[in-house]
Amino acid sequence: MIRTNNISFSYTEYEKTEELESDDRELVIAAREAALNAYAPYSNFKVGAAIRLETGIIVKGANVENAAFPSGICAERSALSNSISNHPEDKPVALAIAAMTEEGLTDDFPAPCGNCRQVIAEEESRTGNKIKIILAGKNKTQIIDGISCLLPLQFKGKNLKINLP
Ligand code: THU
Repeated sequence: MIRTNNISFSYTEYEKTEELESDDRELVIAAREAALNAYAPYSNFKVGAAIRLETGIIVKGANVENAAFPSGICAERSALSNSISNHPEDKPVALAIAAMTEEGLTDDFPAPCGNCRQVIAEEESRTGNKIKIILAGKNKTQIIDGISCLLPLQFKGKNLKINLP
């Protein structure tokens, strides 16, 4: 039998940063601060990510580029490496992303790249917690309820037999 399935998701859009609830607004501000620390001399595209952990700690990350291009890292993975390395037991509950060019914060929503989506998905699997994803444009913000919206039908390595305990 052949079946056609459909995947859809809803997300919330806010017109202005001030409309966000205070925890989310604080995280967006942290992501914008993180973007200021980006090292992006090749693209001039500075991205900041801020993760709120279950205990309330906020961990930041920025993109760090390299002359050997693939050696660079995105802001989201930079922030996740930071939180997992320093707070492995404290589960991420939300991740805000902001981006800026020479002209300032981007109007566009800085959606995570495919690599970062995969890494966010692994962190949701590792912790068993959904991570709220907050895409902060200069004014508008989109809030997405977990990575499966952005990465449906994801690879979870379920049948991998290598290196499993
Ligand atoms: N970048 C991020 O930091 N996050 C993303 O999800 C997409 C792209 C960075 C990588 C590179 O330093 C710059 O943005 C331009 O692609």
